[in-house]
Amino acid sequence: MAVIKPMAIKDILKQNLKGVEALVRGWVRTRRDSKEFSFFELNDGSSVKNLQVIADATLPNYQEIVKINTGGAIAARGRLVESPGKGQAVELRADEIVIYGAADPAAYPLQKKGHTLEFLRTIAHLRPRSNTFGCVFRIRNTLAFAIHKFFQERGFLYVHTPIITASDCEGAGSMFRVTTLDPAAPPRDEKGAVDFSQDFFGRQSFLTVSGQLEGETYATAFSRIYTFGPTFRAENSNTPRHLAEFWMIEPEAAFFDLRDNADLAEDFLKYIISACFENNMDDLEFLAKWYEKELIPTLRHIVETPFERITYTEAVSLLESSGESFEYPTKWGSDLQTEHERYLTEKRIKKPVVVTDYPKIIKAFYMRNNDDGKTVAAMDILFPRIGEVIGGSQREERLDVLLGRIREMNLNEEAYWWYLDTRRYGSVPHAGFGLGFERALQFCTGMSNIRDVIPFPRFPGWAEF
Ligand code: 4AD
Ligand code: MG
Repeated sequence: MAVIKPMAIKDILKQNLKGVEALVRGWVRTRRDSKEFSFFELNDGSSVKNLQVIADATLPNYQEIVKINTGGAIAARGRLVESPGKGQAVELRADEIVIYGAADPAAYPLQKKGHTLEFLRTIAHLRPRSNTFGCVFRIRNTLAFAIHKFFQERGFLYVHTPIITASDCEGAGSMFRVTTLDPAAPPRDEKGAVDFSQDFFGRQSFLTVSGQLEGETYATAFSRIYTFGPTFRAENSNTPRHLAEFWMIEPEAAFFDLRDNADLAEDFLKYIISACFENNMDDLEFLAKWYEKELIPTLRHIVETPFERITYTEAVSLLESSGESFEYPTKWGSDLQTEHERYLTEKRIKKPVVVTDYPKIIKAFYMRNNDDGKTVAAMDILFPRIGEVIGGSQREERLDVLLGRIREMNLNEEAYWWYLDTRRYGSVPHAGFGLGFERALQFCTGMSNIRDVIPFPRFPGWAEF
């Protein structure tokens, strides 16, 4: 093949490159024949749009070319010419076609016909080659990059907190154990209990549920930090909004109070959603057409509307006066369920809602105690369709109050010695939050199941690939 620089199909389609010689490489979406030509729809992942490639029957390897089917991989070199077909400005008239890999039409599972998302989940290694998942994972890339950009532009330091940990940040006890002990014959102590002092780390260890506690120690050195990494929860939640392995973004800022925290979160969400408009209009349009008609106006609404801020107590009275029949009761002191969250943001307030000051009994030990003695400086951000997308709080910076909470909640005080040191030495008010990356992606893509916005989802009963 003549030596010319390969081009991304996206770059070909966004410019008027009529008459230009181009080399493209990718995977065949469809091929059909006429008497004198074979027509390929070629996709290289750079865009939801394909490039039409036309191979003339006079090409020397034409007998091989007509054996290429959906899923096969080729390179095509030739001239870009005006396309008579609808929906595309140019097509490529091939002077040369190189065949990389064929795909047996009798076996290749991703044929042109529309497949269900459930079926595509069982071929998660091939689904990125479908239009839907092409769109989803280009948007995932956009969001990830925008997240780093947002924090870097504002002086936040990116910190890598550990994946393996001995401390349970959320105190919810839903952690995956990490061990090298033989499950069939673990060492035992005198009392017959498993002797974890003989385990790899000399103690019990787990996959982290959150990088927050370690992140806080860095915030009390660098002032503003963020994490962006995988987190793990062994809760048996078979819902369209829960994964056992998901990615979380957790900023933490010294000298921030709850209001600063909510301001940061609102700016942040608006910024990353705007990035989709700048980079993924074609993808958004495709997803809106096939999955969520209101996708684009809903996203615009978030970017343009100031978020509503209410307290948990106000939220509960709105729910009590709603006249709705909820599955779960709405009593002061019980946690808001997704049905409540969605009612507030979708039906009642019709805006994203920041709910603050939850009862302390339903929140984690590290949240700052309010003067009323009953609530803590917590905040959850609620989005339409998703419910809670962000959870965060101002942290308890007073050593005695924090210790009081740890003891009240029967947590293992010694395990937190290093965390408590941040309150012993140069303690400052500080706050932070966690954005569930896949929840944000669900919102930006219109996908109704969280399993369809992460490459290889992990959930109860499923860890294939
Ligand atoms: O509300 P969560 O549990 O908060 C924390 O972990 C804090 N340590 C965050 C912080 O203040 N630094 O989780 C934060 C967010 C939730 O709002 C939700 O979006 C997402 O993480 N999340 C999940 N996403 C997918 N699957 C799950 N099982 C999730 N659990 C929480
Ligand atoms: Mg939460």
